[in-house]
Amino acid sequence: MKVCVLTGGGDAPGLNAVLRGFAKRAAQLDIEPWGSPNGFEGLVFPDVELQRLDGPAVRGILPRGGSILGCSNKSNPFAMPVPGEKGKTRDESARVVERIRALGLDALVLVGGDGTMHYARRFISLGVPCVGVPKTIDNDLAGTDRTIGFDTACNTAMEAIDRLRDTASSHERLFFVEVMGRDAGFIALRTAIAGGAEYAMVPEAHQDIDDVVRVLTQGAQGKGSSIVVVAEGDEQGGAFAIAQRVKERAPQFDIRVSVLGHLQRGGSPTVADRVLAGRLGVGAVEHLCAGHRHGVLGTVNGKLTLVPFAEAIAGGKPAETELLRILPILSV
Ligand code: F6P
Repeated sequence: MKVCVLTGGGDAPGLNAVLRGFAKRAAQLDIEPWGSPNGFEGLVFPDVELQRLDGPAVRGILPRGGSILGCSNKSNPFAMPVPGEKGKTRDESARVVERIRALGLDALVLVGGDGTMHYARRFISLGVPCVGVPKTIDNDLAGTDRTIGFDTACNTAMEAIDRLRDTASSHERLFFVEVMGRDAGFIALRTAIAGGAEYAMVPEAHQDIDDVVRVLTQGAQGKGSSIVVVAEGDEQGGAFAIAQRVKERAPQFDIRVSVLGHLQRGGSPTVADRVLAGRLGVGAVEHLCAGHRHGVLGTVNGKLTLVPFAEAIAGGKPAETELLRILPILSV
């Protein structure tokens, strides 16, 4: 068998660990492992060569963030930007299918988030076997307990919050810390709990500014500093907008804002992400060998599980309501 892997969408720590697991298991099972540079680019453009993922190609990459194949969130094969023609896109899916046949590829392993899983589903209907591997620091893909990159991003954000607490306490300040999470508050909620924050604002809950002010004002009585973690996709806006509205209502607070941004996407993956990525990289190859050629491979209650694409992309993952409930208990 000849299988091609790609890393689609935004990067996340642990992608190289997946590629390493994929390449090692493929070599052991006599499968030719190939990689497509920059998402689908290697499968769309004939002048972009596929990369052979043999032993030397994956040596030493386990602790490295990013992806040795490169990522691209402009590589939608169903609406690919036309080179040299600004703003123009073209459906290149037929070209991809043709190229897959010409290269003699038997299947694709698509490491990605929501977008990539949508493309995988469409390629299956075009007759291309695909196994998806879920990654996104946001953790907002259903059908798996965790996505690759989430744990590392949470640890990075928690470390930042610990540092911000030091300076917040020294100056008796209120900090608004914005973390990533365009549609989901998984990073915000986890890091708020892990970092001992006073409040978390997440897209999954309706929280108004008066409630934030009430909690902070009550909390401020016994505390020198406060931290509010804001998911970037919160309905009340980003950390700067929320901070401004809080200041208008409670001018007594000395407020600072810190937006963590893309630093959450980089760095060496944690133990949890390396182990998950290794399991999924190996598992993707083993599932293909066993003839399971359609679905997203994740973990459900800790167990490796292949779920249908439709399930993984149907409306995201339920919020961690238990964590929402205990945050105010822990933050008094
Ligand atoms: O990976 C998902 C995510 O981290 C979102 O939380 C964020 O909005 C987005 O990526 C930003 O990605 P980019 O700057 O690459 O478009």
